[in-house]
Amino acid sequence: MGYEIDSAIQEHYGIGVERDRLTTWGRLEAVRTGELLDRFLPEPPAVVLDIGGAEGAYALPLAAAGYEVHLIDPVERHVDAARAASATAPAPLASASVGDARALPQADGSADAVLLLGPLYHLVEAADRATALAEARRVLRPGGVLLAAAISRFASALDGGVRAGYFGDPRFAAIVDRDLTDGVHRNPDPAGRPEWFTLAYFHHPYGLRDEVVAAGFPEVQVLAVEGIGAAGDTGPLLDDPGTREVLLGTIRRLESEPTLLGASPHLIAVAVASG
Ligand SMILES: C[S@@+](CC[C@H](N)C(=O)[O-])C[C@H]1O[C@@H](n2cnc3c(N)ncnc32)[C@H](O)[C@@H]1O
Repeated sequence: MGYEIDSAIQEHYGIGVERDRLTTWGRLEAVRTGELLDRFLPEPPAVVLDIGGAEGAYALPLAAAGYEVHLIDPVERHVDAARAASATAPAPLASASVGDARALPQADGSADAVLLLGPLYHLVEAADRATALAEARRVLRPGGVLLAAAISRFASALDGGVRAGYFGDPRFAAIVDRDLTDGVHRNPDPAGRPEWFTLAYFHHPYGLRDEVVAAGFPEVQVLAVEGIGAAGDTGPLLDDPGTREVLLGTIRRLESEPTLLGASPHLIAVAVASG
């Protein structure tokens, strides 16, 4: 079945917002996601599907670490950039192709790990998220690992409204009102304010866990990615080796504290496919 993503999402990523995100304002997200991949992925060599892998920010380092990595993304610009980077990388991707999390080309039980670091928050219909999770479950071998990212229901209020100061614009206050009501995030001015993100679904942490369980993964851990790091500017703390370890150690210590989960802009659900 051919799936298409919403044109608002295509246009948002078509302007190249993913190129530098994880090395600039998304640096803590990248460091912490890298830590979680190190902790939960099976040892290389193993087959990893990076679904919604954009330009390969995680896929390329994983290929360099010895994994067989297949990247799939619905945005052609992302796949072209991933292929170009792969062509000159020390270890290339096994494949990079345009596709959708709801209809994976891989055979049943063929992957050791599936990364859904993006698709779940761009599928606003619950049925579409269920389809993407069912596809991840189908292609994983028994014992294979799923890492699925979500954006917190409260991210736009905390991170956008307060930290970035967007509450100064009544249009952003209206976005947050909608996010808090039903989780569906829409940007009314995508050309003027691309930093307000695009069409997305923001999960309650327990909602993320419930969706992954419903897809046939009985044991699910939901972990904060940035966690308490979202409370301030972590750039200087990450730059200093002493404070970096204090910061990351404290985030790790609190990563599954239920009363703090929703304060983390990103969450990752980790689950193992049963036999
Ligand atoms: C914010 S980016 C995240 C990229 C990267 N995985 C990361 O974690 O930094 C979200 C990604 O999800 C992709 N995406 C959106 N809808 C998707 C879908 N239905 N299936 C697969 N990927 C999708 C987008 O094209 C984009 O590359």
